[in-house]
Amino acid sequence: MAMVCLSDFEVYAKKYLPKIAWDFFAAGADDCSTRDENILAYKRIRFRPRMLRDVSMMDIRTKLLGTEISFPVGIAPTGFHQLAWPDGEKSTARAAKAMNTCYIASTYSTCTLEEISAAAPGGLRWFQLYIHRNRMVSQQLVQRAEALGFQGLVLTADLPYTGKRRDDVRNGFCLPPHMKLKNLEGAFEVCQMSLLDPSVTWNDIYWLRSLTHLPIIIKGILTKEDAELAVRHGVQGIIVSNHGGRQLDGGPATIEALVEVVEAVQGRLEVYLDGGIRKGSDVLKALALGAKCVFIGRPALWGLAYKGEEGLQEVLRILQDEFRLSMALAGCASISEIGRHLVQFSNL
Ligand code: FNR
Repeated sequence: MAMVCLSDFEVYAKKYLPKIAWDFFAAGADDCSTRDENILAYKRIRFRPRMLRDVSMMDIRTKLLGTEISFPVGIAPTGFHQLAWPDGEKSTARAAKAMNTCYIASTYSTCTLEEISAAAPGGLRWFQLYIHRNRMVSQQLVQRAEALGFQGLVLTADLPYTGKRRDDVRNGFCLPPHMKLKNLEGAFEVCQMSLLDPSVTWNDIYWLRSLTHLPIIIKGILTKEDAELAVRHGVQGIIVSNHGGRQLDGGPATIEALVEVVEAVQGRLEVYLDGGIRKGSDVLKALALGAKCVFIGRPALWGLAYKGEEGLQEVLRILQDEFRLSMALAGCASISEIGRHLVQFSNL
């Protein structure tokens, strides 16, 4: 099967994954309106391409908090990669390293942080944290990640409780007995997410700051008010995200929320985005509206389901090629030429 675009991987994954795994990956909250809106919103944005601008030499490299990556697409944290491929997160780490981009490993990984690090030494990795009621569990995870060379700490802020995902409820979703949340063994019952701490507030950023020297990135910001609070709490980055539409249904598409967040931040920290990125031109639109980099969630899982590390590399390579082409056709030879002038919102 020739894989030409990311939806080809989606079709493959839907056909070959066990239904319970496919449903878990695909799920959005409630009737999935925010999940679907994440994708639809890109269609309401139109390019204002410029012509005759010498795009013979393209440079698509960028930097994440000072570290160079080969193009502005990284891998968002998603749990349970062994549901997609037996080697799980080890394959993800290898693919990210091979493509010279950033992989954010989830608290809910099915490989240990040690295994992930050893699979791709020297690759750029951030660790995504959910704060547990037992703060020692979280403290130890953060300190383990730092000691292992993870270079950023991503605090997911939009999951005080897990959103209601109807298919998971219907399927009684649960990890198969041979898979474990390897970083939480002993601390956590696999199907009992209620050990996450719903009392977390902005004050906990100071607690996290006291635990680690790593840059802190907050994931799940959707408003200018919270963007301003993130700046005031001294974090280094935010990810505009609605958890792929899996938490509060009825919120904005992330590409729409990005506009007010970027305006509020005024360059005081780095702003990234995830949600609904399915084509190179989506990446270009997000960068035009002020994102420094975007991250992919489900498409990475489809790539893993297709052929593990190789499949994920193929997903990234296709996105990279499409992004480079879109940039060139829009008249930009380097990332610094991408700006707000490049897009308009259509009334359609
Ligand atoms: C997620 N997401 C997520 N986020 C997080 O911070 N920690 C996690 O463990 C997970 N787990 C997870 C599992 C699955 C199956 C999905 C689909 C998503 C959210 C993820 O990081 C990201 O925000 C979205 O996936 C982005 O949207 P797209 O790219 O899937 O449209």
